[in-house]
Amino acid sequence: MMSLQGLLGSALPLIQAPMAGAQDHRLAAAVCEAGGLGSIPCAMLTPIALRQELELLRSLTARPFNLNFFSHVQPEPDARRDAAWRETLAPYYRELSEDQANIASGPGRLPFNEEAAALVEAFRPAVVSFHFGLPEPALLERVRRSGTKILSSATTLDEALWLQERGVDAVIAQGLEAGGHRGHFLDHDLSRQLGTFALLPQLVDALSVPVIAAGGISDARGVAAAMALGAAGVQVGSAYLLCHESNISAIHRAALQSPAARHTALTNLFSGRPARGIVNRLMRELGPLSTQAPEFPLATAAIGPLRAAAESQGSGDFSPLWAGQNIANCRPMSAAELTRELARGFA
Ligand SMILES: Cc1cc2nc3c(=O)[nH]c(=O)nc-3n(C[C@H](O)[C@H](O)[C@H](O)COP(=O)(O)O)c2cc1C
Repeated sequence: MMSLQGLLGSALPLIQAPMAGAQDHRLAAAVCEAGGLGSIPCAMLTPIALRQELELLRSLTARPFNLNFFSHVQPEPDARRDAAWRETLAPYYRELSEDQANIASGPGRLPFNEEAAALVEAFRPAVVSFHFGLPEPALLERVRRSGTKILSSATTLDEALWLQERGVDAVIAQGLEAGGHRGHFLDHDLSRQLGTFALLPQLVDALSVPVIAAGGISDARGVAAAMALGAAGVQVGSAYLLCHESNISAIHRAALQSPAARHTALTNLFSGRPARGIVNRLMRELGPLSTQAPEFPLATAAIGPLRAAAESQGSGDFSPLWAGQNIANCRPMSAAELTRELARGFA
């Protein structure tokens, strides 16, 4: 089998995890220049913003990179559920003197679509990775025909086999420790979600495509352990969050460096899908999981004004403070330094 770095085109079999809302081309370029595969998260970018990101990335590095898209099915808004959710949030709006009329309308995060496929065809990234399954076959075929390698996250053996059947070039085994959104797409029962080191060997044994380990890996020891279990490479997210090149808020930065960061949980309150973040006031009081939250990504809008108002007062009570369970090595440093440290795990 071709090595993962051969497949990805990078010097190291190390992917900097795409982290929507937390980073842009600067982190991606720094990791590419250090020998890893830098990623641009596209889920929250308009086509114009994505084109700009791609041009800026290209101005900083000529190395291969990864573009990451969400491939969820966009739900129809449900007026009754939305109204009930706004009612639940009303006391917080009163407390912060915010008006629910300021809740943004619109679809929020968009799944991979025709416009995104056209940008992939124009910029031909070495790799495109998807979260929440895969786009419809015709769109996926356009990505494949552009010569790009295709990856997607699996959180169970069934999902991994489903992805392999549909021709992905490698599967990212996303364990329960991982920060940010869980990529599950076949079964929404969270009790089926596995830790990285339970999931990884099962996938390695069952698949013929390379398996990339993600979740809880933050230093060279973690990399070496994943490789010992048969991973072809690793994808690291949370450890990069405090790098100089990330663009998380000062509130998120402070939370990651506080004792509060030792307690993370899966919450659907901020977007409608379970994602791992540092437990804060909203999660404690309404969740962390709630059956009331509108479907992904529609829950995002109603939290927006609360988040903005609280953040303007220096509070992260209503902010998604995404982080994984292992941030032991998440420290202020350059992305090159962290990449070099992780790379020692491949030796
Ligand atoms: C702040 C943050 C944002 C994330 N956003 C995305 C995303 O946009 N797309 C994606 O595929 N994965 C996303 N993830 C998940 C990562 O791809 C990866 O699975 C995870 O970071 C690995 O676990 P770790 O955080 O313990 O390293 C995100 C993770 C974090 C921490």
